[in-house]
Parts: sequence; C-alpha cells; structure tokens
Amino acid sequence: EKGLRVADKGFLNTAVISSEITYIDGEAGILRYRGYPIEQLAVHSSFLETAYLLIYGALPSRKQYNIFETEVMQHSMTHADAEVLFRAFRYDAHPMSILTSAFASLGSMYAEANPSLQGQNLYTKGDAASIAAMDKQIYRLIGKATTLAAMAYRIRQGRDFVVPPAGLSYTGSFLYQMDHLGEEDYVPSPVLEKALDVLFLLHADHELNASCTTVLQTASSLVDPYSAISAGCASLYGPLHGGANEAVIRMLISIGSPDNVPAFVEQVKKREKVLSGFGHRVYKTSDPRSFIVRKTADEVFKVTGKDELLETAMRLHDVAMSDEYFIKRKLAPNVDFCGLIYRAMGFPLDFFPVLFAVPRVVGWLAHWRQMMLQPGGVKIWRPRQIYVGPTKRDYIPIDSRV
Ligand code: SDX
Repeated sequence: EKGLRVADKGFLNTAVISSEITYIDGEAGILRYRGYPIEQLAVHSSFLETAYLLIYGALPSRKQYNIFETEVMQHSMTHADAEVLFRAFRYDAHPMSILTSAFASLGSMYAEANPSLQGQNLYTKGDAASIAAMDKQIYRLIGKATTLAAMAYRIRQGRDFVVPPAGLSYTGSFLYQMDHLGEEDYVPSPVLEKALDVLFLLHADHELNASCTTVLQTASSLVDPYSAISAGCASLYGPLHGGANEAVIRMLISIGSPDNVPAFVEQVKKREKVLSGFGHRVYKTSDPRSFIVRKTADEVFKVTGKDELLETAMRLHDVAMSDEYFIKRKLAPNVDFCGLIYRAMGFPLDFFPVLFAVPRVVGWLAHWRQMMLQPGGVKIWRPRQIYVGPTKRDYIPIDSRV
C-alpha cells in the first residue's frame, strides 16, 4: 500500500524453499541434520561422514563412506589445479585476501577443469549422467576447500605448499597442509584434530543462513557451483555472520580484562558497541552448538593451556546473561565463541572465517544439489519489493533546474 514503510527486516519471516536437510527449532534450541540431533553426531560421527549424510540424506554404509572419502581426499591432496590460480594472485596483509583469494578463485577452477562446460547447465536433468557430473564437482569442491585454504595461508607466508600423506582424516590432512604452527614434520595432536573435526561438523550446515541463501540465490540462475560457492564466501565473511568468530576475539581483546566488562556492556546497551558472539536470527533460547563448543574448548585447553581471554569471555557471558537488556531481547551465546578454540590452537585471527567457510562448503553443496534436483526444476529467485519512491514525474532539462 502507499506509504507503508517496510523496514527491511532481512527475510524475518519468509520461507523460500522446502528442504529435507537441516531442521532448527529456535525456541527449543534444537538442531538436527537429516533428523539426527547435532549432539549425537558431534559425539559419534565425523565431519566427512556427516558431510555424506547432509548431501545424500542417509548415514553411509562402510562401502559408501570409503568411496566418498577416496573421492574427496584425492582432490584434497592434489594441488596442481589449484596452484595455477595462486600464481595469479598477489597476497597482501589485508585479511580479506585470505578468504577471497582462497575461495573467490573457485570460479576459475571450474573454467580450468571444465572449459567446454562454461555457460551450460548440466545439473538439472536428474539423469544418472548429470547426477554423476554433479557429484564429481561436489567431491572436488569439498576436497579443494582444505587445499585452497591451506595454500592461501602458506603462500601468504611465502612457504611452499606441501602435499599431505595418504591415510590422514579430512581434518588431519587439513591440519597437515596448514601446518599453521610452522613445525616441519607437523603431526596434528589427536585431541586437536578431533576438536577441529567436531567444530567442522558443527559448522557444516545451518539451513537458510545468509551465506546459504546467497549460494542458492546465485545458483538459481543456473551458474556453475564454483561461482555460487564463491558468492556464499563473500556473504559469510561479514561480521554479522561467519566473520563473527574473528569479531568475538577482537571484541575480547578490546575489552582488555574482566574488570572492563560492565562498562563494555553499558556501551552495548547504548548501541555504541555490538556484542559479537551473542544473538541469532533463529535461536531465541540457546544455540545448541554453543554447549558443544564449550565442551570442546575444555578438551582443547587441557592440551594448549587456557587462553587469557577466557576470563573476560566468561565474565561477559555472566554479565550479559543476567542483564534484562539481553534477556528481554533473547540474546544468548551463539556458535562463534569457537574463536577462542581456534586462537588456542594457534590459527591466525584473520583465518577464523576461513575455518567457518571450509566446512560450510558441505552445507552449501547439499542445498545446491537439493535445488538442482528439486521436482519441477529450478526457478530463478527473484523476490519483489514494496515501492515507496516518487510517483510519476516529467524530466526537467538541466538549465531549467534550480
Ligand atoms: C552466525 O543465520 C544463521 O544460521 C547463522 C549461523 C550459521 O551457522 O550460519 O548461525 C552463524 O552467523 C551466527 C551469528 C553470528 N553473528 C554475531 O555473533 C554478531 C552479533 N549478533 C548480532 O549481530 C545479531 O544477533 C544477529 C546478526 C546474529 C541477528 O540479528 P537480528 O536477527 O537482526 O537480531 P534480532 O532481530 O534478534 O535483534 C533483536 C534485538 C534488537 O534490538 P531492538 O531493535 O529490538 O532494541 O536485539 C538486539 C537488536 O539490536 N541485538 C543485539 C545483538 N543481537 C541482537 N544487541 C547487542 N548485541 C547483539 N549481539
């Protein structure tokens, strides 16, 4: 209607797809992947097994898992097709270079691998050949996510890329490729490898968050999956979304000490500061992942020692959770305090959003595959607006204007 001001509430209450992949109940604090509670998967499953579950809808048999793992790991361990991209990239210190260079080059990876396929859409036919072609790209993208991330990291340091030995887990191979502690012959600690695998599993999917919506919005024009994933990375990087794990640490560092927390919280209440790591568009009681993050942190700190920011984080949690301002707004800790674990493990701060993007490639692909195979084919996403601009008026030549 005329004059109706629509404050852009960012799809506050809009469902654009029906999906069988991930279920979230924001009031009850429930998260399930294909019906399996996240709490069970975090204890009993692995990131790569959960990746299979998210993409194909069922827990794999031993044989299915072995084939999937072999397909993915072959891409994770070869870097020739990725290396060609990095010769063209110059790295600077700006944190954006890590994420954009690691992932924004994905589109050219597709061109590199499938020069003849550019502009064609192979994936919506639903026949065995197009599904096999789709799955081949899925294996390659999941495998390459670790390789691209590790290459971006090491090239920024001026270090050569190392090809990981066979037989490591997906996360173990990633840690080996990263060797972020710079210890030659780096052997990932089993505790830290397990902890990162749990965090990758927690980050694998979260239904239609901003970056997944971006991937599907982009994919709805039938562009290749590499370009759609690149778009998702750009959206994920923002501090309101996947960039929050980095923003949490910068916030804790800026607060300085537990004694400064009350003053910081007052600034938040005056909207002078944002409380990163708190709040969620869907969860209005608690983010079930945050409890698993806390448990995982306890395991990691036994190996790495406690992070000096932990006291400030705990004080912030206690002050915010007992303050009417946050209680009234139903703000609780979300998954992004996992940044404390990444910091304790020694990852560089501007790499934290990349640690979100690597596992989230799985969720984006699971939704992409679901969209490509949806009954009735793919409809381009083209939302409407409520126009509140000027009514019709005639052009005035510039010399007649005041
Ligand atoms: C992720 O969507 C997903 O699923 C995302 C994710 C995934 O796995 O993909 O879960 C990952 O992105 C988690 C969120 C990470 N972001 C942060 O930690 C950044 C800090 N959080 C806020 O920016 C905010 O909470 C959002 C962006 C997460 C949610 O924003 P909304 O939905 O716009 O918040 P809301 O409508 O629930 O806010 C209600 C009120 C508002 O105040 P009033 O206008 O009613 O007075 O709470 C306020 C908000 O201003 N508020 C905050 C706040 N979050 C909301 N005030 C201070 N600090 C905050 N963190």
